[in-house]
Amino acid sequence: MNYFKELNALLDMSSAPYSGFNVASIVVTKDNKVFKGVNVESAAYPTTNCAERNALQTAVTEGAKLGDIKEVHVLGRNAQKLLVKAYPCGSCRQVIAEQSANDAHIFCYASETDIEQFTIAELLPHAFLGAEL
Ligand code: THU
Repeated sequence: MNYFKELNALLDMSSAPYSGFNVASIVVTKDNKVFKGVNVESAAYPTTNCAERNALQTAVTEGAKLGDIKEVHVLGRNAQKLLVKAYPCGSCRQVIAEQSANDAHIFCYASETDIEQFTIAELLPHAFLGAEL
């Protein structure tokens, strides 16, 4: 399913006063529930939360269990208000790997038709999934 229109509308909920870079994310669970997230920045910069992890954490809050995440959709908008692809950061890749049992598909949008698709294993090879803990 194509989530461009929902992502584009969601960008306006992003709070990014420091970078001016808005990110919207939609995650879909294996039972096809949909959860939204945006990036929320902080004046204490490292406390910023990414859109993808906010969406994932809402999914978990609403009942998604470890391994339930199937898809992560992402759209960025830069300070010049141009739509651009936002590739998930390393921390988000780790959380996506764990919450999808290393089986998520990630869709990075720049428009309704310009979409790059990856598996989480492509974006984070040799993921540490905690089996060794
Ligand atoms: N950001 C995300 O929310 N997701 C990404 O995929 C890339 C980066 C946010 C974090 C910060 O608010 C801003 O984009 C610039 O790094």
